[in-house]
Amino acid sequence: MTEPTLRPATPLLAPSLLSADFTRLAEALRLLESARDCVVHVDVMDGHFVPNLTIGLPVVEALRRETKLPLDCHLMITEPLRYAPAFVAAGANWVSVHQEADPHLHRTLRAIRDAGAQAGVVLNPATPVETLVDLVGDFDFVLLMSVNPGFGGQSFIPRALDKVRRLDALRTERGVPFFIQVDGGVGPGNATDLVAAGADVLVAGNAVFKAPDPLAAIQALHAEMAKGR
Ligand code: DX5
Ligand code: ZN
Repeated sequence: MTEPTLRPATPLLAPSLLSADFTRLAEALRLLESARDCVVHVDVMDGHFVPNLTIGLPVVEALRRETKLPLDCHLMITEPLRYAPAFVAAGANWVSVHQEADPHLHRTLRAIRDAGAQAGVVLNPATPVETLVDLVGDFDFVLLMSVNPGFGGQSFIPRALDKVRRLDALRTERGVPFFIQVDGGVGPGNATDLVAAGADVLVAGNAVFKAPDPLAAIQALHAEMAKGR
């Protein structure tokens, strides 16, 4: 069983492949390998929990064969317990599941850890962080959505910043280490504030892969994030 993880020494960037060119995923991986402090964010959508269909198990297996970078699989699917262990078997290092999609979250988190990955809970913009108080210790990280899940390229919902602060306070108050990830509309304009509020990992799709120079965009985001620590 994987023990809860301490916060990373430096904030990490998790570029989302959803915004990459799907005919050139190996090139996207080479890009992230050439930058420091990156993990690979993989957005899995089932057309039920969210109104979009994206990446599934065979793609995660292919990514695993192609890189040693941590694979961070964000499951936007109903009944996540049915598939979460299979994503670990396919090579995911981190697997996060939506609280709103699972009435048996404790069991699902246990299954992810038992399968050998870090287990995360995702909260939609409308779900308060206080709903996690009785699960502290049972997850390795929390992913706070700062857009409504389903699509890349949406605008950041500013209230997410306060949720990061409240979650950071919960972490301090309980003395239990877990890391905080933020996903949706992240860019150079909010990266510093998010890290200053307590975020450890920032997901960025369009801000990286739709930039004219993605490596420069990653470096600029890292620089903004460093100002927040
Ligand atoms: C949205 C996904 C995000 C998205 C981020 O449902 O979970 O990971 O791809 O893309 P940007 O950074 O463009 O908002
Ligand atoms: Zn995501």
